[in-house]
Amino acid sequence: MLATLYGRALDSERPESVLHDDAAKRAVERIDYDFGKTGMTTTTAVGVAIRARVLDDWTREFIARHPSCTVLHLACGLDTRAHRLERPETVRWVDVDMPDVVALRRRILPEPAGDYALVASSVTEDAWLDAVPADRPVVAVFEGLSMYLTREEGHGLVRRITGRFAGGELLFDVYGSWGIKLQKLVPAVRNAGATLHWGVDDPREVEALHPGLTTVDSWRSVDLPHREALPGAGRVQLKVVGAIPKLRDVGKLLRLRW
Ligand SMILES: C[S@@+](CC[C@H](N)C(=O)[O-])C[C@H]1O[C@@H](n2cnc3c(N)ncnc32)[C@H](O)[C@@H]1O
Repeated sequence: MLATLYGRALDSERPESVLHDDAAKRAVERIDYDFGKTGMTTTTAVGVAIRARVLDDWTREFIARHPSCTVLHLACGLDTRAHRLERPETVRWVDVDMPDVVALRRRILPEPAGDYALVASSVTEDAWLDAVPADRPVVAVFEGLSMYLTREEGHGLVRRITGRFAGGELLFDVYGSWGIKLQKLVPAVRNAGATLHWGVDDPREVEALHPGLTTVDSWRSVDLPHREALPGAGRVQLKVVGAIPKLRDVGKLLRLRW
């Protein structure tokens, strides 16, 4: 979470910034931590910003189509998505993360305006979701979460959200099974001592969890828009990875609707 925050802050310092996340920059300045330890480079930072930008754009599109909706931003970490996305007052926004992260978030980030709640809970619990009224369409956006869950936990989360709300979208990133196998090659994962579990090779695995749940977009990380913002070496790296069948599926961004 510190690595991705730092990535968005680094991106925002570039003239050709993808995300313009000035709140991330201010948050980094407030945290006494050697961010060099995250192993973030310009290429990985812009990669983080591109992923966040696509999820921001999909969330914006959902809000534009459903101005009165609920946004569930799961595993929010120190992400300032709630600050980045302008929205009408009719949008209910719920940020959720583990209690220790929420405590840090309260110290570092100002509370966004509007109908906003910051909930301290594991997403695998039931109570946080039961407390969110099911009266509006929902968009659940979760970035950097699915791979930290076991397959059973991930399936349970999708089932509970799609079962509670009459309609909505799930916007999230997944690792493929090769991404899970090669996880220790990802500096942010290795340096955080994290272990990744759930890999999704085919979005039909997620579609099968609820009647009518359909994939609207499935984008390989190597094919995302805004790639031109990467430094030259990063663009070459993506081209090489994109040409190798198993490697090009290490990561995807999914948009599913029901
Ligand atoms: C890689 S960080 C991503 C944070 C943020 N989405 C971002 O992009 O900067 C992973 C986040 O998932 C959260 N997380 C992991 N397992 C979780 C769970 N079971 N319930 C809630 N949050 C969880 C962690 O606390 C952490 O904030």
